[in-house]
Amino acid sequence: MAKTTKKKKTSKKDSKFVVFGNQKGGVGKSTLVELFAICMSRDLEVLVTDLDRQGSLRSLNENSDTLNFDYIWFEDKNKLQSIENHLKEAEGKYDLIIMDTPGKLDDDKPLNEQEIMRYVAYADFLVIPIEPTLFSLSGSIDFIKETLQFTAKYNPDLKLLITLNKAKPRQLLSREMAEALSDMQKEDNRIHFMETQVRQYNAFADIDMKSNYYNINGNAAQMNISAWAKELLSKINSL
Ligand SMILES: Nc1ncnc2c1ncn2[C@@H]1O[C@H](COP(=O)(O)OP(=O)(O)OP(=O)(O)O)[C@@H](O)[C@H]1O
Ligand SMILES: [Mg+2]
Repeated sequence: MAKTTKKKKTSKKDSKFVVFGNQKGGVGKSTLVELFAICMSRDLEVLVTDLDRQGSLRSLNENSDTLNFDYIWFEDKNKLQSIENHLKEAEGKYDLIIMDTPGKLDDDKPLNEQEIMRYVAYADFLVIPIEPTLFSLSGSIDFIKETLQFTAKYNPDLKLLITLNKAKPRQLLSREMAEALSDMQKEDNRIHFMETQVRQYNAFADIDMKSNYYNINGNAAQMNISAWAKELLSKINSL
C-alpha cells in the first residue's frame, strides 16, 4: 500500500463516495477517474483510491508535484478489510472519494460475490462509463442489472450514472442504443445518464503517461472534460 498525503485536513466534510466501475474492460474507468480528480481538485479536497491491480494511474499520481489530490493504491489481494477501514478514516476528511476499480472481475463468481460489490455497497454513486456502441452497452447491461439487484438490498440509495466515453464530435446514438438506454431507465429510477459525452481526444489517451493537457487553456479537450466534470459534480450534489 502506498500513500501520499499532500494536505492537512481540517473541518469535517460531507464526503461523497463515487466508484467508477464496469466489468467491461477498457471503457475508460481509470482515465475518467483521473480527469475527474484533476478537475475537482481545483476547488475540493479529493482522494483517489485505486483498486486497479495494474495500478495504471500509480506512476503518474505518486510522482506528481502538480496534481492537487491525495492518492492511495491498494496492491494486495487481502485488502478488503483495510479498504473498509481506510474509507471510514477518509470519511469526513475529503469532499470527494473517487475509486477506480479493475475491469476484469473474478469470472467464476456471481457478481454479488465479487470484490467490486464490497465497495459499491458503500458508494453514493456508481459511475459506469460506456462507449457509444451497442456492443459496448450490451457488454455492460448485465453488470448494470446485477448491480441494481444487489444494491436494492445492500445499498438502496445508490445512484447509477451512465456516461458515454470516446464519443465522436456530435455523435448521435443509434436508435437501438437510445431505446436500450431508455428501457433501462424505465426499469429502475436509480439509473441516470450524463448529458455531456466525453469525446475521443488524443489528450485523453495515455493519461497515465502525460498529464499536461489540463494546462492548455481553451483547448477543446479541456473544455469538454471541464463541462463533463461540472455536470457530474452537479448530479452528485443534487440527485
Ligand atoms: N476519451 C478518450 N479519448 C481517447 N482515449 C481514451 C479516452 N478514454 C479512454 N481512452 C483510452 O482507452 C484505453 C482504455 O482506457 P482506460 O484504461 O481508462 O479504461 P479502463 O476501463 O480503466 O480499463 P481496464 O478495464 O483495463 O481498467 C486507454 O488507452 C485510454 O488512454
Ligand atoms: Mg482501469
